[in-house]
Amino acid sequence: MTILQNRKIPEADFLAERIQVLFGWKTGTDPDLDLDRAVAFLKSIPDGKNFAKKLAAAKAEGRTLVQPRAGVPVLEEHIKLLRHLQASGADFVPTTIDSYTRQNRYREAEAGIRESQEQHRAMLNGFPAVNHGVAGCRAVMEALDVPVQARHGTPDARLLSEIIHAAGWTSNEGGGISYNIPYAKSVSLETTIRNWQYVDRLVGYYEERGITINREPFGPLTGTLVPPSISNAVAIIEALLAAEQGVKNITVGYGMGGNVIQDVAAIRTLQRQTDKYLSKYGYRDMVVTTVFHQWMGGFPADEAEATGLIAMSSTVAALSKATKMITKSPHESIGIPTAEANGLGIKASKFVVTILKDQTFPDCKQLDREMAQIEKEVDCLMTAILVVGEGDLAQGVVRAFEQGILDVPFAPSRFNAGKILPARDNDGCIRILEFGNLGFSEEIKIFHRGKIAERAAFEKRPISFQLTIDDVNAVAMGQLIGRGNGHGR
Ligand code: 5AD
Repeated sequence: MTILQNRKIPEADFLAERIQVLFGWKTGTDPDLDLDRAVAFLKSIPDGKNFAKKLAAAKAEGRTLVQPRAGVPVLEEHIKLLRHLQASGADFVPTTIDSYTRQNRYREAEAGIRESQEQHRAMLNGFPAVNHGVAGCRAVMEALDVPVQARHGTPDARLLSEIIHAAGWTSNEGGGISYNIPYAKSVSLETTIRNWQYVDRLVGYYEERGITINREPFGPLTGTLVPPSISNAVAIIEALLAAEQGVKNITVGYGMGGNVIQDVAAIRTLQRQTDKYLSKYGYRDMVVTTVFHQWMGGFPADEAEATGLIAMSSTVAALSKATKMITKSPHESIGIPTAEANGLGIKASKFVVTILKDQTFPDCKQLDREMAQIEKEVDCLMTAILVVGEGDLAQGVVRAFEQGILDVPFAPSRFNAGKILPARDNDGCIRILEFGNLGFSEEIKIFHRGKIAERAAFEKRPISFQLTIDDVNAVAMGQLIGRGNGHGR
């Protein structure tokens, strides 16, 4: 095996690997997966259904577009669902892929489709796109007037990506870090980075033939108290890895933290630093947009309260000028929403972003400070990663995770150190309580320690893991900061 490197896969190597990939399941031998035919088909798709082009237009207009999550196993039901969400105001539609497909367990996905048909209810938690094949996925795309994206959590999405792009889905979510660390327990980063280089190389192949396809690293990671500099650094790394493979249209993402200023700062710096790093490493003609995820942590069970949280998320997304926002539904605390509840989330969200479309969060000292802090932390992490990688970003990522220099809180992967502990400061900004071996300078650590000490003093309690626990549960109970047994209220 060759050593993992951040180097564009030569076309001949890509095409040789592709033959193996397509034999992963019977739908992979479909003649419509012939690349010349796929290119011709993608060229026939109108601009209005091209994800990358619609994002670029939204960015130019300063609009925030909305997109839900959704996926059911039976093709006709899935189309019905997406048409309902489109009618509810979705600017983009997703197709959330089921967990068997994410694990490349296509035989079980096949059984799941059959059982769902027999029982007239969804027996899988998403749409098994590989089993439905190019023809099924094209039927989805053709039934809609808006662009379609695959959303999943797949460590090896090579075959899935082949099928969805050949079917005219012009965006794919994921990345070698963001679809590994939060989703898998024992798949190495070498493996997932390499798999996602292939996925990006496929997009690069299409880009070279005049077809633009959007790629979106999964921003929120574990969705639980992730400090913005950590998720932004991962997004920037995945953008750089994708660009090397020829990707041109990238949407970097961030999951809402809860403090408005920190959230606006996170989106603004994410845009600015992604642009900066891409240009620093020589990637030209890139179109970078941002996506803001509505609250990804625990939701209140009460539907009115959940709708309130959705509206608040929408306000922050609109004021931050994120290009896109991923919506939640009032059923979030229960599980997968009905079509109606999902549509309600879209409608509430769209109403808020439309009302706020002409307003931007004003510049102010606090925002400047928060932006400078995030940028300093991201630069510090990026430098540390390149140092351990001896100049190679892909090797740097592997080694940085091994050593805990890059560390994601609450992740299931055994390739993640899991030593850091986040907690909120007294304004509700996400800071770090325990650093493990995180690649932060002493100056940055002093800042975080000071912020957490301030909160603990205010609440008259010791600095401990209890702060973290209280914060994880707070929002679902209607507070941003988990003040503990009434301390400081
Ligand atoms: N349909 C709708 N939403 C889904 N989610 C996961 N699978 C589906 C699906 N098939 C949502 C969860 C959570 C997020 C991570 O994804 O409700 O909000």
